[in-house]
Amino acid sequence: PDFWVVIPAAGVGSRMRADRPKQYLPLGGRCIIEHTLDCFLDHPGLRGLVVSLADADPYWPDLACARDERVQRAAGGRERCDSVLNGLRRLGELGAQDQDWVLVHDAARPNLTREDLNTLLAELGDDAVGGLLGVPARDTLKRVGPDGRVLETVDRSVIWQAYTPQMFRLGLLRDALERALHSGVNVTDEASALEWAGLAPRMVEGRADNLKVTRPEDLLWLQQRWQAKTP
Ligand code: CTP
Ligand code: MG
Repeated sequence: PDFWVVIPAAGVGSRMRADRPKQYLPLGGRCIIEHTLDCFLDHPGLRGLVVSLADADPYWPDLACARDERVQRAAGGRERCDSVLNGLRRLGELGAQDQDWVLVHDAARPNLTREDLNTLLAELGDDAVGGLLGVPARDTLKRVGPDGRVLETVDRSVIWQAYTPQMFRLGLLRDALERALHSGVNVTDEASALEWAGLAPRMVEGRADNLKVTRPEDLLWLQQRWQAKTP
């Protein structure tokens, strides 16, 4: 199906401890967010894309993608979910309808493949609710007490890591986010807002290397992979 995209990019990247927000750090001769946008801008199903940015972001205007007419800005918010909600409202102004599909994808997740994107679209195109990319937990999992001692081993077979893109109908997602935020619920991803509304998003298995750059070692790992791909 055709789809719209919201990219929350208004974070400061405190855990990276870099001199700028992590989405503007270099990767393979460009910056992270340019790679993030590429995967969507190269896709024939894209209707339009909104990037939620911090006020007076000095880095964004210098990027080539800022001048792509399919790319529009929205204001960033205090938390990631506020930035996403601003982006969803902006999509409405651009002509997106409530039943249209929206993909929300972290600016700091530059290694999404066309294959994973197509898998998500194909798996969820006919779904009533929507869903998200994720990966099954790989390591043995422990519940640990405040004293640092293991309490028990958790059943790994039912635990997944939630990735992005997360794909939902615009109206359903916007309403669920608005109501969850209004109720003061902690929503760390889009799916959790839908879960809170009583719906069950579908988990779609994706590639483990679609990782979010969170700490310095994540970017080092990606930079090494990029060097290996493009000698
Ligand atoms: N994000 C956003 N608005 C916020 C907070 C985060 O748009 N108020 C975005 C980030 O730019 C990032 C994505 O949400 O692309 C995932 O968030 P996270 O990894 O937590 O990024 P930061 O908040 O920037 O990093 P940190 O938590 O380490 O400060
Ligand atoms: Mg954060």
